[in-house]
Amino acid sequence: MSLLEGRTAIVTGAGRGLGRAHALMLAKHGANVIVNDLGSSASGEGADQTPAQEVVSEIEKMGGKAAINTSDVSDWSAAKQMVEQAIDTFGDLHILVNNAGILRDRMMVNMSEDEWDVVTKVHMKGTFAPMHHAANFWRAQEKAGKKADRSVINTTSHSALFANIGQTNYAAAKAGIATMTIVAARELTRYGVRLNAIAPRAQTRMTEGLRELTEEQERRRAPEWIATLVAYLASEQSAPISGRVFEAWGFGYSVIESWQHGPQMEASMDPTEIDAGVKKIVAEARKNAGIDRGQELDP
Ligand SMILES: NC(=O)c1ccc[n+]([C@@H]2O[C@H](COP(=O)([O-])OP(=O)(O)OC[C@H]3O[C@@H](n4cnc5c(N)ncnc54)[C@H](O)[C@@H]3O)[C@@H](O)[C@H]2O)c1
Repeated sequence: MSLLEGRTAIVTGAGRGLGRAHALMLAKHGANVIVNDLGSSASGEGADQTPAQEVVSEIEKMGGKAAINTSDVSDWSAAKQMVEQAIDTFGDLHILVNNAGILRDRMMVNMSEDEWDVVTKVHMKGTFAPMHHAANFWRAQEKAGKKADRSVINTTSHSALFANIGQTNYAAAKAGIATMTIVAARELTRYGVRLNAIAPRAQTRMTEGLRELTEEQERRRAPEWIATLVAYLASEQSAPISGRVFEAWGFGYSVIESWQHGPQMEASMDPTEIDAGVKKIVAEARKNAGIDRGQELDP
């Protein structure tokens, strides 16, 4: 039996890049897939059904089952309809891959209100809304005695985990997604739902031209390396893994270890007395992990 036989998935932003690879990988391993994509530009403008339609056709050509959804994932009622569409079309829902995303990079001092609003909306609300509606369905299923392994895979970023300059909007949203994943994992265990997040690195239109790549680096940045981990996390085989954030690309998979308690001192009620103590614990603490450290992993 295939890894995902009999399971139904929603993949958001599945018309291009990583989402397309996730949808194809899930379908290849037996899942029915709702292929969601608004078809917007990399900065979130416009709409086009073609990318989602092409992925549906690709899946059908390889003998899989897929249906198109072209709604905006950050639209609350459209996200509810997307969950209902999966259930109406394929009879159930087991997997939700929140992947849709856009970029509007700008140094913080120059960032406009719109650049802040639209990026945080597409990523944070665009992850929360489908997750919320799917979780409501799963809670009802569990209460009706229908047990199943249910899996959500959210998409965070190194930008959030290692603080990329020029991306306060995107990094804040992606950090929100990472933490929201862990909180929801704690809340939803009782309904048979596992939630994990991935911080991918791949060559897509989002990262095109950012830096020159050798042939080997380009090969290791194919989205399929990441889709493999997504398909695994979507499968029952990965139970009971939940509440984890994974780095993923062609150079390997790793588990991110989250915020930790660091050096400590006694509290005071007098701000003139704590200078030496605060400087001491800051000096003793490990530095924040930086994006440069992440890049050293790129051989
Ligand atoms: N490529 C990387 O290296 C990288 C690194 C870190 C995180 N990510 C994240 O991975 C995800 C996929 O990125 P990608 O590189 O494949 O980009 P991409 O631009 O190739 O694909 C994103 C897709 O999302 C769709 N989309 C955008 N807004 C939408 C909305 N509101 N509703 C529905 N669909 C929408 C777009 O139409 C597009 O097809 C994003 O969340 C991105 O932030 C990518």
